[in-house]
Amino acid sequence: MSQVNLWNSAEHALSYLAKADGIPHRTEGEAVLLEEVSKTVKRILDVGTGDGRLLGLLKYDRPNVECVAIDFSPTMLEKVRARFANDKNVTVIEHNFDDSLPDLGKFDAIVSSFAIHHVEDDRKRSLYTEIFNLLNPGGIFCNLEHVASATPALHQKFREALGIGDTPDDPSNKLLDVETQLRWFREIGFDDVDCYWKWLELALLVGVKPVTVNCQLSTAILTELNQIGYLRFNSALVPVH
Ligand SMILES: C[S@@+](CC[C@H](N)C(=O)[O-])C[C@H]1O[C@@H](n2cnc3c(N)ncnc32)[C@H](O)[C@@H]1O
Repeated sequence: MSQVNLWNSAEHALSYLAKADGIPHRTEGEAVLLEEVSKTVKRILDVGTGDGRLLGLLKYDRPNVECVAIDFSPTMLEKVRARFANDKNVTVIEHNFDDSLPDLGKFDAIVSSFAIHHVEDDRKRSLYTEIFNLLNPGGIFCNLEHVASATPALHQKFREALGIGDTPDDPSNKLLDVETQLRWFREIGFDDVDCYWKWLELALLVGVKPVTVNCQLSTAILTELNQIGYLRFNSALVPVH
């Protein structure tokens, strides 16, 4: 898999921004994402915010929500800072999410759009775990993502729909299938995991952090707890009298 990530070049960022509005069907995916994020959330994190497009959309119906936007592209950081220059509720942080997320406090919603597929698969998974840990119980993770096609023919169909059928693949893309990513979400502990919307290689992957954390105990510990008079009931341990 390519280790290349061209996103900190101004040319790459500006070329994306010039065509961002024309990506077919993206507004449908964004609309579903907007429906899933409660209007009462207090804090939102946007991972790979770009020029802040997604936070801008979220803020229409949540004007006072506190937002944190992270990205590593100097061009994008300049654009997002300009977009929210008069909004004291938006904090922009320069961060390469190849590295662990900094301590940003807890969030009610963490969103991302077409960004996480730029890191390698191992990092995608560990980033998803960090995102889980940054969510408040009941918080939602919505990743509108560029995912791998099931077949080379479908990949070419997607490229043609974008008008890039004759150009080489962007070496920054490290595309991964939906199923693997949903399985990771479940393994990490997210609930209500599903692909909520999809068109060819664009997919909205969603998971909700459970309000009560599941207590996964090994059989050996369970046996011992049974012996000393505790019984497992759903995810709670209750004494047996
Ligand atoms: C396709 S753009 C999407 C931007 C924005 N989320 C949107 O929907 O328009 C991908 C974004 O991810 C950012 N990005 C890619 N790799 C990154 C990394 N390792 N760390 C931080 N940001 C990264 C890029 O700088 C860029 O802003």
